[in-house]
Amino acid sequence: MHDDIAQVLFTEQEIANRVREMGGAITRDYADVARGEGIVLVSVLRGAAIFMADLARQIELPVEMDYMAVSSYGNGAKSSGVVRILKDLSSQIEGRHVLVAEDILDSGLTLNYLLKNLSSRKPASLEVATLLRKQTPAQADINCRYVGFECPDEFIVGYGLDYAERYRNLPYIGVLKPEIY
Ligand code: IMP
Ligand code: MG
Repeated sequence: MHDDIAQVLFTEQEIANRVREMGGAITRDYADVARGEGIVLVSVLRGAAIFMADLARQIELPVEMDYMAVSSYGNGAKSSGVVRILKDLSSQIEGRHVLVAEDILDSGLTLNYLLKNLSSRKPASLEVATLLRKQTPAQADINCRYVGFECPDEFIVGYGLDYAERYRNLPYIGVLKPEIY
């Protein structure tokens, strides 16, 4: 696995530090609005599940965790623009404070669709925490309240991010050697 990585972008320790900072910011920002009822963390399977699991443990408020599965990438490296809901939320989010935890914002097509869909369910608030935001030339205009790292427009894997379902379990984030895909 490690031999397929051209360059490490963020080490395990750097990710842990940044996720702790993000959790701290979320705890402060939601302390008043969400003290009693807490927030609903929503992650988009499968990539964001690892990030959400770590982020949730850095938020010192009641947190519900829920999951959605959408398809946009297939097994390849390019976004198809087609978004389908494969698995919907289990909870009702009407009137709740919803925070979507995303692994990476690339074209933004997936998230754009998802946010429209979620906001039609009338949450009390709807925000996005993305671990990575790619410097993609054409990105949907999405207001991410929490961004972990900016990253280059290359194909990256690790810490939840896959190529053809592999590399999700790398503890760091790195650029995949182009000859692999
Ligand atoms: P978007 O719709 O183009 O923003 O794509 C978002 C989804 O594509 C992310 O949640 C990832 O699952 C996947 N993705 C985008 N860029 C990468 C990458 O560099 N490596 C692995 N997965 C990626
Ligand atoms: Mg994904």
